[in-house]
Amino acid sequence: MKEQKSASLRPFNTFGFEVYCDTLIEIQSISELQDFFRNGNPKEPLLLLGGGSNMLLTENFRGTVLKIDIKGKERIREDEAHVWVKIGAGENWHESVLWTLENNWGGLENLSLIPGNVGAAPMQNIGAYGIEVKEHFDHLIAVSRNDGSLHTFHLEDCAFGYRESVFKRELKDQYVIAEVCFRLDKQPVLHTGYGAIQDELKKMGVDSPTIQDVSRAVIAIRQSKLPDPKEIGNSGSFFKNPVVSTAHYEKLKAQYPELVAYPSGKGMKLAAGWLIEKAGWKGFRRGDAGVHARQALVLVNYGNARGEEILDLSKEIIADIAEKFGVELEAEVNIISSE
Ligand code: EPU
Repeated sequence: MKEQKSASLRPFNTFGFEVYCDTLIEIQSISELQDFFRNGNPKEPLLLLGGGSNMLLTENFRGTVLKIDIKGKERIREDEAHVWVKIGAGENWHESVLWTLENNWGGLENLSLIPGNVGAAPMQNIGAYGIEVKEHFDHLIAVSRNDGSLHTFHLEDCAFGYRESVFKRELKDQYVIAEVCFRLDKQPVLHTGYGAIQDELKKMGVDSPTIQDVSRAVIAIRQSKLPDPKEIGNSGSFFKNPVVSTAHYEKLKAQYPELVAYPSGKGMKLAAGWLIEKAGWKGFRRGDAGVHARQALVLVNYGNARGEEILDLSKEIIADIAEKFGVELEAEVNIISSE
């Protein structure tokens, strides 16, 4: 366990905001994590940090930040069709995906290059290009923030939904994810239905793709649209794609025939990026806060924007989309303050 007073969180949030916390504690093992909570919480508030890729820090954090650095990647069992692997919550997501691909285990290739750490993946059931992490999730081990005890959560315990899980809702702030176990395929099943993947594979000249080819295609698509947080601060999609009733969709479609939408449950899921672009925000910049020029769903920090500025911009966009389309956008990133 490493402890530091008055630490900068700039290296630990992909927006690159220069904010400080009172105390930063780095946790390197499950037993350290258990000890931390067994010995009683320090003075609240407490902020859990994985890869810092899905949060907006609006100001200095007047409390303790717990950085989860639990490492380790291991095959734990296999049968004829599957391999089960466990990965420490502090491992980088993309490097972990590459490790599964080096071993020729299929399942996570469509989720290549998603920023963040493994512990955050089940938290919001990360997804891309037709796959969500729940499809290859077996179980996870979490530590109770109440008493440091260990708990196992299986698929049915996690209530996974679109960018949702029980850990964001009923069990919010109750557990810290320490380790995640995935079930991978020995005979890969490819998911190349998403149009952009097919186009990219064609461009690459690949006729019968392997899981490694699909990963390369996904990487190329993401790199062409999504800004690299090492170059421009961002947190991936800032908003969720909103679901509206079929009646609402029909009304919008009549007005905007080129509207992009997909069936989802009882309604239609609209491409928020399309709405934001149509409303004229794509490429907008005020000071160092902006809307990415190639993907309107992503808000960016060009250098020295403060969290408040990004938050204000997001509120303006939400109000404008509500006014123009009657649709309520909801932030996908977690907005953090120590109030
Ligand atoms: N679109 C626009 N303008 C834009 C952006 C998108 O018109 O500025 C249109 C596109 O042309 C396309 C549709 O909207 O027809 C969907 O765009 P895209 O395929 O880029 O996906 P998305 O809905 O914008 C979602 C995820 C991404 C994920 C991609 C690919 C959410 C909130 N976002 O974005 O996830 O990579 O699909 O599967 O669901 C993330 O969560 O951080 C993230 C990047």
